[in-house]
Amino acid sequence: MTKRIASDSESSAESTTGLKSATFQLRCIGCGDVGGAPTRNLRCQACGDLLEVVYPWASGDGKESGFKASELKALWKQRRTSRLPLDESGVWRFREVLPGVSEEINVITLREGNTPLYSMPQCAAKAGVEPLFAKHQGMNPTGSFKDTGMTTASSIARQEGFRWVACASTGNTSASMSAYASRGGMRSLVLIPDGQISWSKLSQALDYGALTCQLKTDFDGCLKILNEVVLHEPVYPLNSINPYRVEGQKTAAIELLEQFDWESPDHVIVPGGNLANSSALGKAFLEMKQLGFISRLPKVSIIQAEGANPLVRTVRENVGLKLIPVRAETLATAIRIGSPASWKKAVRVLDATGGTVEQVSEAEIALAKAEIGAEGIGCEPASAVTLAGLKKLVRQGFVKRNETVVLILTGHLLKDPDFTLKFHRGDLFPDSADPALAAQQRAPIVLEANAGAVIKVLEKFRDE
Ligand code: F0G
Repeated sequence: MTKRIASDSESSAESTTGLKSATFQLRCIGCGDVGGAPTRNLRCQACGDLLEVVYPWASGDGKESGFKASELKALWKQRRTSRLPLDESGVWRFREVLPGVSEEINVITLREGNTPLYSMPQCAAKAGVEPLFAKHQGMNPTGSFKDTGMTTASSIARQEGFRWVACASTGNTSASMSAYASRGGMRSLVLIPDGQISWSKLSQALDYGALTCQLKTDFDGCLKILNEVVLHEPVYPLNSINPYRVEGQKTAAIELLEQFDWESPDHVIVPGGNLANSSALGKAFLEMKQLGFISRLPKVSIIQAEGANPLVRTVRENVGLKLIPVRAETLATAIRIGSPASWKKAVRVLDATGGTVEQVSEAEIALAKAEIGAEGIGCEPASAVTLAGLKKLVRQGFVKRNETVVLILTGHLLKDPDFTLKFHRGDLFPDSADPALAAQQRAPIVLEANAGAVIKVLEKFRDE
């Protein structure tokens, strides 16, 4: 039997155990249809475009929400001292602005969110801006930002009675989805491009118990096939076109504002792949402004790799009106995506917040990644596009030297050790004579096994 997906998409949730989340509907971002049942691949029945979660207060000035910003700010903060699983989750502690899950028992949480905000003085100096912060979403339970959206969408899948969930992935979504599925007693189907994702991410999916298929195509091809599979089989798609994923992911922005005592930073810089994360963060900033939590929006800017730059081209060549898909190629495999599903949502965020787009080269990504690592923070290559992009935005004058900037680091350093080792051993760009790259390389030194040899090396580097 095939299960319908959110057939009546209006829902309000309050349980005796204290779960109280928002009344919401699904709205099509294309034709504006509200409340219709989505297709099985989570698109609008009427026009096939993507759906988004909207709340009753979304069309007004926020007053009819009944929320008092000051009261909610206090409640959300207070929950950080609670031992209830729902409060310990850095996503569900914001449940008043999340879609309803009818019973607390349906919530699948690994205590995601609550990620650190680090100051980055050395990277600030490299970029020529001050102050600079990194919101490290790689500090989530499976090592990437995906967990914040997976807790909401996998909980909805379980509530809907699905036994199987599925995704196409460049690695992180599959790692996250398989963990949450297993925690929630569901099976997971993973479609990944053969040979194009990092081994650490693949090993996570295997260990978390996914049925993993490596397809002889790229990510865009995997996503197409997934869309077909869910039409024929009762599996629930957990890719980022899933509107409930976006809702969970938006909490990173709410948490960021909380970490800034509800003063918006001037700029938030996000890597762009399938473009759901930038859409999610932008949605949160807009909602928080509408509800009176903040008085001004940060500019959300999106950075892509030069070899996987469909949004940059779409904005620059088509003023954001029609997607220009590309054949994607980059060593930052997480964002090796040529035809991003959520491009329209991302363009809306750029327009609404006044952000911009930029692209960076492979060498710029590798250098930025090493600089973030040398600050004792570290991240995976896709996350490092943020610092590389920031340097360009400062040079262009789009980011002013005294503006407050936050980089969203999306994945943990350990997500792609191959890239890191190759960089430091000089194998990533063997023909490069760039002194900036060489200065960051820290290849391991092979020595005879005696203290004298070690001391000799130490003497060489002691005054560094
Ligand atoms: N950074 C990392 C580490 C990612 O894994 C991804 C996407 C992105 C940035 C881009 O985010 O797609 O929302 O624009 N990874 C997906 C995956 C596609 O399958 O893991 P986006």
